[in-house]
Amino acid sequence: MAKRIAILTGGGDCPGLNPAIRGVVIKAHKLGYECVGIQEGWKGMINGTAKPIGPDDVREMVGRGGTMLGTSRTNPYKKEGGVQGVLASFKKLDLHALVALGGEDTLGVANKLYKEHKLNVVGVPKTMDNDLDATDYTFGFDTAATLAMEAVERLRDTGRSHRRAMVLEVMGRHAGWVALYTAIGGGADYLCVPERPVDIKDLCAKVKAAHAARQVAIVVASEAVDIPGEKKEEQLDEFGHMILKDRGVAERLAKIIETETKIETRTAVIGHMQRGGPPTMFDRILGTRVGVKAADLVHEGKFGNMVALKGDAVIAVSLEAATAKLKTVTPEWLKFSDDLL
Ligand code: F6P
Repeated sequence: MAKRIAILTGGGDCPGLNPAIRGVVIKAHKLGYECVGIQEGWKGMINGTAKPIGPDDVREMVGRGGTMLGTSRTNPYKKEGGVQGVLASFKKLDLHALVALGGEDTLGVANKLYKEHKLNVVGVPKTMDNDLDATDYTFGFDTAATLAMEAVERLRDTGRSHRRAMVLEVMGRHAGWVALYTAIGGGADYLCVPERPVDIKDLCAKVKAAHAARQVAIVVASEAVDIPGEKKEEQLDEFGHMILKDRGVAERLAKIIETETKIETRTAVIGHMQRGGPPTMFDRILGTRVGVKAADLVHEGKFGNMVALKGDAVIAVSLEAATAKLKTVTPEWLKFSDDLL
């Protein structure tokens, strides 16, 4: 009988998950394994909810956004009997290995299960935030930033027609990568990232200068930026992370800009639109490569590892190292964008 590999996707979805699932399933099948898809992340692993998944189910999924397995932000370590549930499902489903596709949180759980219970897990990094330290890029990021970049271009058209300043708020959590690439790629006039507090004086001066020169000013702001003088009560999710959806960063910045510069200002929050839709070519190829590599790692018995992109190579790094710290925007990148915008 073929050994069985389970696949799950946890945390926020992102474009590239389906190509990655496809990569795991097709390669695993070639290596003689059968696969099951765990439904809705760790929640499905706690409850043992799984469906068989074969090459024919995934072949056409390469261009499809979202995750065909569903996802959740469930943390088994925060649920009564959660870890026991995961271990019991592993047995009940007669699994040889589990491939967990996720970001810092999902992979943190995978790492703990490997360390504490010797579970045969392999991790695949995904997140539109691109904030995992051990890999150069995560799939989902390119699609999300490309979409936001297009939004900048659209905002510039309407903003210029009305002689306005426009503030675009993008996702990305506590790393400013999405905002940074959006601002540079879209040719914005100002960038606000969580890595440094917003300099209101500088922001308003740059908005005024851009508006005077080109009749429009575009500000790209990350959802987690720190705006001096304003503090909001923050809510936490099961992994202890701030829920950022109600911070109203764009609106707060727009108010400041209007008051200080007297330039009429409008806002746009791109939000979850960044996470849906077909993956870009880059994310399709990266997703496929890391998925295939995950199947290889299972076959080689290299558990407790995460697949990572280093330069042009797809390699294995330990889950421990992969989840140790967040990758945030570096001072070099900030200088690069300051010199440019
Ligand atoms: O981590 C990915 C991400 O899209 C963040 O950029 C954002 O803060 C968060 O997920 C939103 O999560 P949810 O879909 O649960 O609102």
